[in-house]
Amino acid sequence: MRKNIVAGNWKMNTTVPEGVELAKAVNDAVASAQGLKCDVIVGVPFTHLCAVKQVIDINKVGLAAENCADHTSGAYTGEVSAPMVASTGANYVILGHSERRGYYNETNEMLKTKVDLALEAGLKVIFCCGESLEEREEGKVEDVIRAEISESLFHLTPEQWKNIVIAYEPIWAIGTGKTATSAQAQEVHAFIRSLIAQKFDNNVADNTTILYGGSCKPSNAAELFAKPDIDGGLIGGASLKAQDFMGIVTAF
Ligand code: PGA
Repeated sequence: MRKNIVAGNWKMNTTVPEGVELAKAVNDAVASAQGLKCDVIVGVPFTHLCAVKQVIDINKVGLAAENCADHTSGAYTGEVSAPMVASTGANYVILGHSERRGYYNETNEMLKTKVDLALEAGLKVIFCCGESLEEREEGKVEDVIRAEISESLFHLTPEQWKNIVIAYEPIWAIGTGKTATSAQAQEVHAFIRSLIAQKFDNNVADNTTILYGGSCKPSNAAELFAKPDIDGGLIGGASLKAQDFMGIVTAF
């Protein structure tokens, strides 16, 4: 059966020394916790990957980059490729975050390329999707999610799909303190699972981990994670304090 996962997305926060401290604290808390019911991942800036890798036990705490380039190598000043990320020892990459789509014009087509390069480099992908408030109010939630997932991911084989984790992140809930209700989130998660079942089969759909992201915190995590199709969270703000992050990890 599918894994439960709680993944931090630090975004553009912390210096390297601060990030190393935070990663150490998470690693120590995970190492000493008894009977955790989920995998734990930290998603960190590119600059932090090597240093964080040194202070975590990668078998207990996964390590994610927050993006990778849509090329493998070459004259792309300032970009960081999937093989470079993999060479740090990281095992995941977050792709398609709404901040990347919104501020850096990442399209479904470009993300399809990034997904392919990440998988080729041996990384697992946490693939984000989600609607804006305007799209929700216009009744377009399912259309947006269907387009994001099918255009960037549905060319993959069932074998490749084993390395995909989906994160549903309604844009209106990210960093706003406005969480989707557990019922609203469950509805979209069930829809995503049905899309995967239609594309592949029920078995593939049942084995896909689907995370919720958007103002998830210790006080609301348990209710969200109790829903049948919510398999954990992608955590922004609350992943920047080890205690809050662990409060979500232990919500399972
Ligand atoms: P948030 O961010 O938890 O701060 O709302 C979630 C995310 O953007 O991944």
